[in-house]
Amino acid sequence: MTSMSDKALLEVRSLAYDYNGKLAVDHINFSIQPGEFFGLLGPNGAGKSTTIACVSGLLSRFRGEMFFSGKSFSPAKNLSDRQHIGIVPQDLAIYEHLTARENLQTFGGLFGLSGKKLQQAIDRQLEIAGLTDRAKDLVKTYSGGMKRRLNLACGLIHQPQLVLLDEPTVGVDPQSRNHLFESLKQIQAEGTTILYTTHYMEEAERLCDRIGIMHGGKIIAIGSAKQLAIESGLPNSNLEEVFLKLTGRSLQDS
Ligand SMILES: Nc1ncnc2c1ncn2[C@@H]1O[C@H](COP(=O)(O)OP(=O)(O)OP(=O)(O)O)[C@@H](O)[C@H]1O
Ligand SMILES: [Mg+2]
Repeated sequence: MTSMSDKALLEVRSLAYDYNGKLAVDHINFSIQPGEFFGLLGPNGAGKSTTIACVSGLLSRFRGEMFFSGKSFSPAKNLSDRQHIGIVPQDLAIYEHLTARENLQTFGGLFGLSGKKLQQAIDRQLEIAGLTDRAKDLVKTYSGGMKRRLNLACGLIHQPQLVLLDEPTVGVDPQSRNHLFESLKQIQAEGTTILYTTHYMEEAERLCDRIGIMHGGKIIAIGSAKQLAIESGLPNSNLEEVFLKLTGRSLQDS
């Protein structure tokens, strides 16, 4: 079967996942256009991480279908499908006992980069991350913010078309958060597509072109912040008020 919306970079159709019979993701549909910054916004337990895990290939036992540029997409099974995506996990996934350059070498190697191409990709990521001067120091000597930046760089080393970020700012100080936002805006400007989960309204409002609001495993509304406000009958309200109206509860309650 082929995708219905051929223009979409990622199309997720009727995706469902259950943990021992309990539905965590309940037949959701969404598509992300090339170059778009798409957010999944929802409270704890909404199903955001489970969705990301299905798209990244970490979970394979899902129901439904996924398409990448119109073609059937099975990242859990195909390395070539995984090459299209970069994953930036919430918990740091870098080696403390290696340098930044060695970390980037390791992650680049996993995606089949080598030689001059790998060195160029490493230099570029070190520069974006602001780590060029510290590239030869062990990661265990880095500040928390530097580790965060390297974590992002490792997810981007193979220049994926789609980057998945699962709540990347939880427990991150404001300075590192701003650096992350700037880096994401930069890679978006260079054509990278972004899928971003958060439970912070301000982040979704500030960063995302379109937002899917997740609640109880379902996507209950989808659109730009402005569209969501208009469609929920609150054209002059912020996302927080829209969310409250749609779900009858505040995100902070969860
Ligand atoms: N490994 C697991 N085993 C059993 N149930 C799970 C597992 N992981 C998640 N769940 C359940 O699935 C539902 C969705 O969880 P998920 O982690 O996808 O939500 P989330 O939106 O990412 O939440 P959070 O904001 O807390 O990260 C929740 O009810 C959760 O308890
Ligand atoms: Mg989560």
